[in-house]
Amino acid sequence: MILDGLPTEPSDRVDALRSLIAHHNERYHVLDAPEIPDADYDRLVVELRRLESEYPELASESSPTQGVGAAPSSLFSPVTHQVPMMSLDNAFDDEEIHAWGLRLARALDREDVNDLRFSVEPKIDGVAMSVTYVGGIFSQAATRGDGVTGEDVTANVATIATVPMELDRTNGPVPEVLEIRGEVYLPTAAFESMNEHQRLVGAKEFANPRNAAAGSLRQKDPSVTATRPLAFLAYQIGRLEGVAPSSPFEVSSHRAALDALHHAGLPISPDIVSVVGLDAVIERGHELEAQRHDLAYDVDGVVIKLDDVELRSRAGSTSRAPRWALARKLPPEEQATTLVHIEVSIGRTGRATPYAVLKPVVVAGSTVTFATLHNQDQVVIKDVRPGETVIVRKAGDVIPEVVGPVLDPMKKRPSVWTFPTNCPTCDGPLVRLEGESDTYCVNLDCSAQRDQRLSHFASRSAMDIEGLGEKVVERLTAAGLVADVADLYELTAEQLSVLEGMGELSAANLLGAIDASRDQPLSRLLVGLGVRHLGPTGAKQVARAMGDLAAVRSAGGEELSSIEGIGPIIAESVTRFMANPTNGLVLDRLVALGLTTTEPGGGVASTREGPLTGRTVVVTGAVPSMTREEADAAVELAGGKATGSVSKKTFCVVVGDAPGASKVTKAEALGIPMVPAERFGELLVTGEIPTG
Ligand code: IVH
Repeated sequence: MILDGLPTEPSDRVDALRSLIAHHNERYHVLDAPEIPDADYDRLVVELRRLESEYPELASESSPTQGVGAAPSSLFSPVTHQVPMMSLDNAFDDEEIHAWGLRLARALDREDVNDLRFSVEPKIDGVAMSVTYVGGIFSQAATRGDGVTGEDVTANVATIATVPMELDRTNGPVPEVLEIRGEVYLPTAAFESMNEHQRLVGAKEFANPRNAAAGSLRQKDPSVTATRPLAFLAYQIGRLEGVAPSSPFEVSSHRAALDALHHAGLPISPDIVSVVGLDAVIERGHELEAQRHDLAYDVDGVVIKLDDVELRSRAGSTSRAPRWALARKLPPEEQATTLVHIEVSIGRTGRATPYAVLKPVVVAGSTVTFATLHNQDQVVIKDVRPGETVIVRKAGDVIPEVVGPVLDPMKKRPSVWTFPTNCPTCDGPLVRLEGESDTYCVNLDCSAQRDQRLSHFASRSAMDIEGLGEKVVERLTAAGLVADVADLYELTAEQLSVLEGMGELSAANLLGAIDASRDQPLSRLLVGLGVRHLGPTGAKQVARAMGDLAAVRSAGGEELSSIEGIGPIIAESVTRFMANPTNGLVLDRLVALGLTTTEPGGGVASTREGPLTGRTVVVTGAVPSMTREEADAAVELAGGKATGSVSKKTFCVVVGDAPGASKVTKAEALGIPMVPAERFGELLVTGEIPTG
């Protein structure tokens, strides 16, 4: 616990808290290298506030509870905010929201706030930004800094695609000066792929999207920032000058202000809603919390704002935060805990993955005991050592991860963990090929690999055999009943009866589930076989195109790589798998054991002759008077192949009403011709791109 070890005498405790908070402010705001999870930081601040209100004589204007963030670093020129960028007061539960409602009612001299309108907004976990437009033209961007002085990051923010360089005037005149406040952030998906890239090149991963965004912004060279997929959402007007009469910016409510910003071309989160009364505020807050992991960005809370501009100024502000707004913090997705030890697990391909065994800790609502460390280099780069405290992060369905150590300068560090040289299961050598980040157990007879292959075969995305989880697989292989996937289909009730803990009923259920899996289509069988690089989508494409297992087994690399979505790497991996004699024997047995080896509807479209033979067409958006199925069927009737994803093999993209933005963007990027939906008929008849 972060508060352990602090002095107990109030004035010493306050001093210690202030210097700790100042230190962590600098780590977070200036150096972008926080040492403790946000939740622990909040605990320090809450404790300091508690003491300052209990012992008013200890209060001080220079206390970090009175300021916002930290003074700017010297890397960028300072910018003075003409309207200070304030912070928000926090609430940690619904009760504190009610208490805030009472305080607000008192400040407004009314009984309650139940008839007042509030804006409920996601509190995006990024970097607060002030962006100024003069005469409708982007002119300056500055960080919050200490709230009064920020850093000039204009050149870097100019590289962010969602920040317009000029305001849109088509919906009305724009103000002479418009300063907006918003958040620069890294979309979750972009964060994950950035870290995947960091792992591949053996570089240090970003701790979380906020850190990655802050680091990307704080680049001396804007061309580096330009390579980072940053985004921006505006949530507040800071300064407004020269508003023409009857301009959309002449507003008396926050809701109208957001609308005006939206109409001027500024991005506003679609997840902001406006409600009346605190009960509705609380309900919407819970809804946002439940949707937290479906949002395109990380959120660390919900911001509640009074809607009426006039009432806001009546409520006023304290030195650091407005009384008319509140941040309801959500349970943190990062926590500190002890790294007990590091172990290595062996996957079905033999890959050895180090993982942390942790002192159990609740993160984002679930208990985490294990967390991945990805590979040997990541353990070294993160420099986490058994026995120390580490930060664990778990965002949504993402596998829990160890972010890094929490170092105690007063303590000597334990020794560095070294990657084992031998497989923890079969004791065979662990091999790391030059230039690869992964280490493998290369013993094909390794029982860990074999068990993983079997569990993968039975898993939900493959043959979906209920009751055949890791534990049952281990018992089957340990008893010598099963060594490969074909053996599963030869199991008998008698054999199962010798297994400890396996009653007659569970044995019958298991055999029934195995038997039923014979009817799974070829695509699932291909997934189950665990061909390297071939995932569910690729397996479906291969199964659809080839139609049956025999065709897949005899296909050459060229034939496979001509399939939509299958590149040379997957094609080579499939041919290599099929050519392997051991795999061949298992496949022969699976066929003899009566497994389905065909794909419904597979191998048909490619053989039909027509104007579009050999051509792949993507339809996106609504085509007049046709359903999507009918449009796809029309392509197939004309001999073509209809798919849902654009690649360089796509012949053309038919664009209807409300098309998928990513498909259009991708087609543009790859230079794939686009055909308006009204000319779909011509395409079907001629097989050529309509022109003129
Ligand atoms: S309003 C006076 N709205 O939360 C009002 N802030 O301490 C000031 N944040 O880092 C902020 N989403 O950048 C507001 N919808 C939202 C927000 C938001 C994220 C951040 C803000 C600052 C912190 C407030």
